[in-house]
Amino acid sequence: MNLQIDEQRLHSELETLATFSDAEPPAVTRIVFTPEDLNARAWVIAQCEEARLAVRQDAIGNIFARWVGADPAAPAVGTGSHIDAIPNAGKYDGVVGVLGGLEAMRALQRSGFRPRNSIELLVFATEEPTRFGIGCLGSRLLSGTLSADAVAQLKDRDGEPVDEVRRKAGFSGNLQDVKLPKGYYKAFLELHIEQGPLLERAHTSLGIVKTIAAPASLRISIEGAGGHAGAVLMPDRKDALCVAAELILVIESAARSSGAMDTVATVGVCDVFPGAVNSIPSRVRMMLDVRDTDLGRRDGVMQTIEGASQKIAAKRQVSIHSELVNADAPADCAPEVSAALASSCRQHGFPFLEMVSRAYHDSLFISRIAPTGMLFIPCRNGYSHRPDEYAASEDIARGTLVLAESLAKLGA
Ligand code: GLV
Ligand code: MN
Ligand code: MN
Repeated sequence: MNLQIDEQRLHSELETLATFSDAEPPAVTRIVFTPEDLNARAWVIAQCEEARLAVRQDAIGNIFARWVGADPAAPAVGTGSHIDAIPNAGKYDGVVGVLGGLEAMRALQRSGFRPRNSIELLVFATEEPTRFGIGCLGSRLLSGTLSADAVAQLKDRDGEPVDEVRRKAGFSGNLQDVKLPKGYYKAFLELHIEQGPLLERAHTSLGIVKTIAAPASLRISIEGAGGHAGAVLMPDRKDALCVAAELILVIESAARSSGAMDTVATVGVCDVFPGAVNSIPSRVRMMLDVRDTDLGRRDGVMQTIEGASQKIAAKRQVSIHSELVNADAPADCAPEVSAALASSCRQHGFPFLEMVSRAYHDSLFISRIAPTGMLFIPCRNGYSHRPDEYAASEDIARGTLVLAESLAKLGA
């Protein structure tokens, strides 16, 4: 099989997709179901149709683009990622796996390969947690990890229910129907930028993921007492932002002292009410993200944080309430899928590293229902979730080639 990746075309498609954005370039902001996201989705669908793939969308907006195999009833081999992007993000997170997946399928078509199993590109809806507070809604529903009822309870940042948001975006089907039937995928593969610096430091262009770290997130509400910034004396204050500051440092120290570098904790959202320079903050809403490769250690850190927050609440006479948004287990990639990736790398003489994915991905959830593997390519300085995120064209093309070979091996 003579597989040729059209690096030029892939590069230009990545640049085009980056123009569907709500931010000044080079930043990309593409929050799910905003006009920019809907236009980007329409553009991706048009590229899939041009490649003669059969496209369908489900009730949460997952896009499936299928190259029907010689045995249409056999389970499909899937690949894909997401195109939604957090505020002030870059061009490559998720997009590499979607456009790389599409180019891998086109390269296989051009080579004359005819799959036995259907090969399907899957563009996951709402991977990023920005809009609904919880990530990977599409893959959680596909895998049955989250029920349709639980999803229907969610509201977006403006308080609009999921059902209303998706209806306005043109998705009115039943969320119960999103779950995939048993055995739908024979295997699933996701190509993604590493989002960390290890491949670059090792001067290695490819990484095969062994384990995806376990993410959890919490919504924390602190209720203190507001008042006049000039008139309320310091001993009389219950400043919710001071409580938040103390708690954030406890969170940092709990992660740092877990005993393992794999533990990370971040407070990435901190909304202060009422937000006036001459008013004592009465209320703070924070979002906390905690991850680890080891489930017990991650949960231990979360317990430490909860214990410390109750002590801070008592000491400062405020209330601190935590609500668990998600707490997922880690996932191991399937040895047979990783073996297909490794053999494709070896076939081309490409060295690779075995690695941990510290970011979560839709593959974390798809791995619950199908043998799943992930292939990483480097990104400059390990930067991701920022506008200067960058992956070199030749690395993207190399990853796409290995992806194509592996899809062929798994779908032959
Ligand atoms: C995915 O975007 C993550 O936050 O790991
Ligand atoms: Mn991301
Ligand atoms: Mn991603």
